[in-house]
Amino acid sequence: MKLVIAGSSGGVGQAITLYALAHTSHTLLLLDKSLPPSAPEAFHQHSHRLEHRAVDLLDYRAYRTALEGADALIHLAGIPGLIKGKWDDGESAALVHNTNVQLSFNAFQAAAEAGLKAVAMADSINAIGGVYSPHDPKYDFFPIDETHAIKAADAYSLSKAIIELQGDAISRAYPAVTLTTLRLHHVTPAKRIPAEWVARAGRDLWGWVNDESAARAFLLAVEREGGGHEVVNIVGDDHRAEGHDAAHLAATYHPQAEIRGEVKGGSAFYDSAKAERVLGWKHLGGRMPSKE
Ligand SMILES: NC(=O)c1ccc[n+]([C@@H]2O[C@H](COP(=O)([O-])OP(=O)(O)OC[C@H]3O[C@@H](n4cnc5c(N)ncnc54)[C@H](O)[C@@H]3O)[C@@H](O)[C@H]2O)c1
Repeated sequence: MKLVIAGSSGGVGQAITLYALAHTSHTLLLLDKSLPPSAPEAFHQHSHRLEHRAVDLLDYRAYRTALEGADALIHLAGIPGLIKGKWDDGESAALVHNTNVQLSFNAFQAAAEAGLKAVAMADSINAIGGVYSPHDPKYDFFPIDETHAIKAADAYSLSKAIIELQGDAISRAYPAVTLTTLRLHHVTPAKRIPAEWVARAGRDLWGWVNDESAARAFLLAVEREGGGHEVVNIVGDDHRAEGHDAAHLAATYHPQAEIRGEVKGGSAFYDSAKAERVLGWKHLGGRMPSKE
């Protein structure tokens, strides 16, 4: 397929590009406002399958034009969190919120209008409120699935919650396009967190997802068929606070949360079973993307 990756120069974009080059035969159009200063070796080896284009995707017409003739879109472009040191600054909050929701709307709308088959949209577990919350986040139950109430209270989390509404709206208007919105947790090759961060990382429940596994989820999502919009958690099935028991972490840091499923030992606080149902994705194992 001809796959467009928007926001391709960022951390997740590079992981998906490398994974797609290694495991599929897709032709890739890489869009970003700034091209990476140096491309990994694999990009040079597969240069016949890659095109880089510098585009400001806040410009709807430019985004729509870039999607002409493509089969599917992975959209990652945005500001991936509140701006460091400026959590209390309204202007920074407006920049994060407005940039993210404008980019995601452009992505969904342009893909649907251009007749693409599928869109995989980067979302975050922060859509329900989490690490950036101005107050200690209060979760209702563990493990958290996609039915948990939205309690976003900061600009980044709100932008992610709105992305999910945008997906629903575009899906009602364009039922033929298949939209999948992927709630990622901290995307990283390595799982551990330093011991002194255990309390802080409790705000978003010690979660993570391996970068290659996250990349696989996006490639499975653009193969999904049948129309409609689904939101899925893409989170590892183990927590990162190694050596700490999940039941003890829950009781210590989030005593108000109802325990509805297995929360013990090394188990995760997020339930990604829907991703397995909808995409065949599992953090380890699960379905591989098809080559074509
Ligand atoms: N990295 C994580 O752990 C993580 C976790 C949860 C969710 N996410 C989400 O995944 C997505 C990608 O995250 P990332 O870590 O790769 O972020 P990143 O900042 O590394 O990459 C984002 C890319 O978007 C591009 N971009 C921003 N504005 C643009 C514009 N107007 N036009 C074109 N390109 C533009 C940037 O140049 C950058 O290359 C984000 O939506 C983020 O919220 C990431």
